[in-house]
Amino acid sequence: MKIGLLHSLLRKDEKLLIDEFNAIKGVELVMIDDREITFTLGKDKFDIDVLVERCINHSRALHGLRLFEAAGVKCVNSYSVATICGDKLLTSIALAEHNVPQPEVRVAFTEESALKAIEEMGYPVVLKPAVGSWGRLLSKINDRDAAEAILEHKTILGSYHHSIFYIQKYVEKKGRDIRSFVVGDECIAAIYRNSPHWITNTARGGIATNCPVTDELRDISLRAAKAVGGGIVAIDIFETENGLMVNEVNYTMEYKNSIHTTGVNIPKKMVEYILRVAEEK
Ligand SMILES: Nc1ncnc2c1ncn2[C@@H]1O[C@H](COP(=O)(O)OP(=O)(O)O)[C@@H](O)[C@H]1O
Ligand SMILES: [Mg+2]
Repeated sequence: MKIGLLHSLLRKDEKLLIDEFNAIKGVELVMIDDREITFTLGKDKFDIDVLVERCINHSRALHGLRLFEAAGVKCVNSYSVATICGDKLLTSIALAEHNVPQPEVRVAFTEESALKAIEEMGYPVVLKPAVGSWGRLLSKINDRDAAEAILEHKTILGSYHHSIFYIQKYVEKKGRDIRSFVVGDECIAAIYRNSPHWITNTARGGIATNCPVTDELRDISLRAAKAVGGGIVAIDIFETENGLMVNEVNYTMEYKNSIHTTGVNIPKKMVEYILRVAEEK
């Protein structure tokens, strides 16, 4: 069995995954560095049974996946899943289409219409770039003054990515959110991310503790994963008065801080799933 690993700089997450692949007899890992590979359209042939995408850069991941799929290679995750999860607006649409609960989301294309939408929703709201991660460039907007300022700054200073306004109702989440891990049709583990700051990403100082996978958490996690097309995904979830709600779904999930916390060997579960995908004809 030959497994291609599309990567950039190897982080601890990739190293743990590589160790798990190497522990299995009969598996040959083919390392594919996204800083070195070139593609020849229509002529590419890759001697691998499946490609595992572990790029750091979203654009390389997306285009790399499309190129590998064009060459007939099965990919984990698929180009389609990466496309949906890499864009919060596409994710919200997929969740809505599958009736997965999420906070209220509105979308606007101009400063004026965005302000109107925000005023209708009521404060606070959160503005997010549709494509982004690690809690970057999120704005919690508590009043009209802040809304006007952020919208004007985005319009005048923002790049192309800020020209679509993704507006989400702020969820009072009492200092934590949940990150659950889905591999195939299993919700394998979950963590709470606690922080005194409203942005709870561990990349921003959030502290991870184990979160039991209840039936409700499993159910919403599997439904969210299915809505975006399945595979290996990590789901951000809020606990609200109206039950659990999905905030976003991540497709090149990071797990290095969650193995010890949950007691679940996450990379091992990933390897088992990837080998199952590789065996499917
Ligand atoms: N609508 C919201 N209400 C409350 N907290 C939010 C909201 N949106 C984001 N957050 C906080 O910010 C964090 C990062 O937001 P998220 O949408 O997951 O973006 P990223 O892709 O940068 O992780 C979330 O984990 C959560 O702690
Ligand atoms: Mg997130």
